[in-house]
Amino acid sequence: MTWSHVDNASWPTSGLSYGADYNPEQWDKDVWKDDVRLMTQAGVNIVSLGIFSWGLIEVADGEFDWDWMDEIVDLLADNGIAIDLATPTAAPPSWLLASHPEIRPVDHDMQQHWPGARLGWCPSSPVFRTYALRVVRALADRYGHRDHVVMWHVSNELGGGNGRCYCDTSAAAFRDWLERRYGTLDALNKAWGTAFWGHTYRDFAHIVPPRGNDAKNPSLVLDFDRFSSDELLAHYLAEREVLKNVTPELPVTTNFMVGAEPDVVDYPRWARHMDIVANDHYTRSPDPLPEQDIAFSGDRMRAMTTQRRPWMLMEHSTSAVNWQPRNRAKTPGELIRNSLSHVGHGSDGVLFFQWRASRAGAEQFHSAMVPHVGEDTDVHRDVRKLGRYLQRLAPVMGSRTPQARVGILFDDEAGWAMAKGVKPNNHLAYGRIVRDWHCAFWRLNESIEVLLPWSDFTGYEVLVVPGLFLSDDETAARVRTFAEAGGTVVVSFFSGIVDEHNQVRLGGYPGAFRELLGAWCEEFRPLQEGETFTLDNGWSGAEWAELVRVGDAEVIARYSGGHLGGHPAITSRPVGAAGRAVYVSAALDSDALLALARSLVSPSEAANVPSGVEVLVRRSDEETFTFFVNHGGHDVVVRAQGLEMLTDVSVSGGLQIPAGEVRVVRSGT
Ligand code: GAL
Repeated sequence: MTWSHVDNASWPTSGLSYGADYNPEQWDKDVWKDDVRLMTQAGVNIVSLGIFSWGLIEVADGEFDWDWMDEIVDLLADNGIAIDLATPTAAPPSWLLASHPEIRPVDHDMQQHWPGARLGWCPSSPVFRTYALRVVRALADRYGHRDHVVMWHVSNELGGGNGRCYCDTSAAAFRDWLERRYGTLDALNKAWGTAFWGHTYRDFAHIVPPRGNDAKNPSLVLDFDRFSSDELLAHYLAEREVLKNVTPELPVTTNFMVGAEPDVVDYPRWARHMDIVANDHYTRSPDPLPEQDIAFSGDRMRAMTTQRRPWMLMEHSTSAVNWQPRNRAKTPGELIRNSLSHVGHGSDGVLFFQWRASRAGAEQFHSAMVPHVGEDTDVHRDVRKLGRYLQRLAPVMGSRTPQARVGILFDDEAGWAMAKGVKPNNHLAYGRIVRDWHCAFWRLNESIEVLLPWSDFTGYEVLVVPGLFLSDDETAARVRTFAEAGGTVVVSFFSGIVDEHNQVRLGGYPGAFRELLGAWCEEFRPLQEGETFTLDNGWSGAEWAELVRVGDAEVIARYSGGHLGGHPAITSRPVGAAGRAVYVSAALDSDALLALARSLVSPSEAANVPSGVEVLVRRSDEETFTFFVNHGGHDVVVRAQGLEMLTDVSVSGGLQIPAGEVRVVRSGT
C-alpha cells in the first residue's frame, strides 16, 4: 500500500494547530472584526472556512458571488490566521436541489430525502458530481494560491447523511461495481451462496440493492456496504484530483468520524488517500467513561497514519452538543482535559465545531468557542487558557507515540458483517466488544494501538482479536505468524466466524483461528436478558457463552454451574518457542476482563500511577513528552523528572496533578 501523508515540514501551521470551523456567513460583518480580535487573543492559528457555503458562493447555476468570501479571506490573512479551505459540497444549494431533484438520496425503504438538511446527494449521481467539481474548481482557482490558504478540507463528514443510497442510479452503479469485482455471475452466485432460497442470479441486471426491511442475503448486504464506501471515496478522490491539479503542494483531507462503532465508510481503507488524517470526535451521554472513548478513537487514528505520525483533531466540542436526547454540558476542566488527551494520543491540533455559537439554524444550541453569552464565560476563558497551553506545547509537534505493547485488531468490514443480518444474539455490538477489551488495557494504563488487518504486527507483546466476526485467510495467517514469533494472541468469542464473503467457516468456530487456538466452539449458547454466568475462578459475565471443545490447548478457566458447568471457557495453547494463543469464549464483565488483561501483559511502570491518572507518551528523537491526565476528583502526586511545560516548572521527584487537570513533562529520551 502506498501512503501519501505529508511530513511535518508541510503541516499546515507552524505550531500546534488551534481553531475551529468558522462560519462567518452566519453573521454581520461587524461581528467578523470581533471574531478575529477574539481569535488572536485566544491564539487561534487556523480555521476551517466555507464548509457549508455553496449556496452563498454560487448563487444561481454558474453565477458566482465571491465578494463576502474575498473579504473574509483578506481579513483572516491580515490577522495571520491560516485557512483550511473547505470545498462546500456537503450542502448543495437550494437552486440545484430544485432543478435536479434526482440527486437527492433514497433510503432503504425507497423514501427520498427531502431538501433541508445536508449531504442530501447521491454519491453515484453524475449530475451532482459535475456540479460539485465545477464549484470546487472555481474555489481552487480563486483562493488556492493565497499564502495563508494552507490546506483543503474536502466536503464534510462524507457519508453522514448519504452513507447508503438505494436509488436507481446507485443500483446501476452497484451492478457495475459487482461486475468489476466478480467478473462473472457464477463467481458472484458462489460468493453470495445464492442457491439459498433459489436466489441464483441469471443476469447482473436482476440484482437490486438491499432495499426494504425484510431479511436479506448477508453477502449482498456486505458488498453493498463496501460499494457505498467506495462510491463516497470516489467522490472524495474526484474532488482531490481537481484540487491537486490547481495546488499540488497543498495537503488535502476530509474529516473522518472515527469512534467505537463500525464507521459509516471504511476509514482505514480511505486513510491512505489523505495527506493528513483528520478526525471529528464527540463524546456521548450517557457514557460512564468518555475519556476512554477519546483514548479509543486516538488509538484508532494512529493506526491510520504511517508510523504513528501525528493526525489532526478537526472537530470536537467545547461543551454540550445539540444532537443527543439530553445534551450534557462539559464539567469544569473537561474542555482542556479532552483537548490535551487528544494531543497526548497523537493529534498535532485541537479544532472545534465551531467558532461562534449559531443564532439560527439546526445547530442553535451547540456549544462553541464563543458561546451565545459571549467572551465573559467559563467556556471562553478555558478556550483562551487552552490556546496558551498549546503554545507552550509547541515542541511536542511532530513527535510520535512510541510503539505500544498492546495491539487490538479492528476492521470495519467485520463490524458491518456483525451488525447486519440476524445473529445468534442480536444484542452483541462489535464496537462494544472491542471497546470493552480496549477499556481493560486502558484501565491498566497500557499503551494501546487499534490495528488494522494489514498493520505491521511486529513489536507488540499482545495482539487482541475481539469479535472479529469476519476474517479472511490472510488476516488469520498474519495473526498466526505473530504468535509463532513469540507474541500472545487473544481471540474473543464471535471472531473468525465468516470469510470475506460473509459465509460461515465450517468445522468448529472460530474457523479462521481454530487450529491456532487448539480449541473450538461446537455451539453458541447466547444468554437471555438478565442471565449471567460464572467461571470456576470467580469471574462472571453475561450475553454470550459457548460449548467449547479442546484439542491441544490447556484450559485456563471453566464454566461453573448451569448446563455448561465444567466445560472450558478460556483456553491457552503454546505456539512456537514463546508464543501463545488464548481463546476467550464468553463475554466477561469489566472486572474479569481487567484481571485477564493484567495476566496477559508484563508489569509496567505506568500501571503504578495513582488511579484515575492516564499516562500518555509522545517522543521525538531527542525528547520525551509525558502527559499526565488526571480524570479523578482529587489532586494526586506522580513521579516525574524534567520540565513541566504548562506551568513552566522544573520537576524532580514528585509532581502534583490537580484534580481534573493535565500536566506535561518534557525530558530527555
Ligand atoms: C459534526 C459536523 C459539524 C457539526 C457537528 C456538531 O458531525 O461535521 O458540522 O454538525 O457535528 O456536533
